[in-house]
Amino acid sequence: MSHVQPIVASTAVFKDDIFKGKVLFCTGGGSGICKGMTEAVMRHGADAVIVGRKLDRLMQSAEELSRLTGRTCLPVQADVRYPKQIQDAVAKTIEKFGKIDFVICGAAGNFLAPISGLSENGFRTVIEIDTLGTYNTIKATLPHVRATKGSYIHVSATLHYRGTPYQVHVSAAKAAVDATSNVLAVEEGPHGVRSNVIAPGPIAGTEGADRLTPKGPGSGMGAMPAGRYGDVKDIANTAVFLFSDAASFLSGQVIAVDGASEHIRSMQLPYPESVLDPVSMKSLIKPRM
Ligand code: COA
Repeated sequence: MSHVQPIVASTAVFKDDIFKGKVLFCTGGGSGICKGMTEAVMRHGADAVIVGRKLDRLMQSAEELSRLTGRTCLPVQADVRYPKQIQDAVAKTIEKFGKIDFVICGAAGNFLAPISGLSENGFRTVIEIDTLGTYNTIKATLPHVRATKGSYIHVSATLHYRGTPYQVHVSAAKAAVDATSNVLAVEEGPHGVRSNVIAPGPIAGTEGADRLTPKGPGSGMGAMPAGRYGDVKDIANTAVFLFSDAASFLSGQVIAVDGASEHIRSMQLPYPESVLDPVSMKSLIKPRM
């Protein structure tokens, strides 16, 4: 079942056809925030390729996105951890659309686990999906993005700005993603390519928020300066802006889209109880499916 509602009205502030003739390549586009960003970019005229591991979900999402936007969305099954699979996905994109203007590096993995309970393989798995997956995607797409003087958006997080318990794997992975984007922006700027990072705060209704928000008494996100949680459309609007000509001098930036929540963020899990007695946290953490 889709986690994303259509976001039709949310991008009305931008002109309809600003991305007419453009092609988006989005990893992780089969669901959640990345699907929402893809929909928004397509609503403004682009065709898209969504890449992910689960073919059924990709095919359903691609059909839905095409129907909602009137543009063409191609689903391509690939795991970002494997360079050859991403290279093949890029080849299919070029075969279908002839070019790539925009790339969203959004494929990610996450779960809650303390260092004491996280295996070496668990740590490596998230580094491989988030960090190596981003690099593999950049490597496979860069010649095409150079050719169109296009633009990258990488989906990161805000949790590595502080020491967030249970998130060492994602913190390390996303810090590397931020750094990678900065270098990409500097190296490729002279070729006309831009690269920016979106760091979503707590976004309601996404798989990430659902899995990562502790459940039960004593847990929760705490007060939100904006008076609400974020919505997928908040991230989608930022993506439309960043890919648009309005952001033509904006590159090498990490943009937190979080309603200022990072400035007052407190621990999501009871502290220090959560690190002294991880077993007691099981009732607050949604188990692995
Ligand atoms: N707690 C502790 N370790 C976990 C874990 C959890 N909740 N989930 C996975 N791991 C560990 C596994 O135990 C394994 O390590 P091991 O071999 O030492 O036991 C390692 O991570 C790889 O897990 P596995 O499920 O085999 O890898 P995968 O490639 O199939 O999937 C994820 C990796 C991260 C995608 C998977 O854990 C997952 O489906 N997560 C939820 C979905 C998700 O992340 N969505 C994105 C939200 S932002």
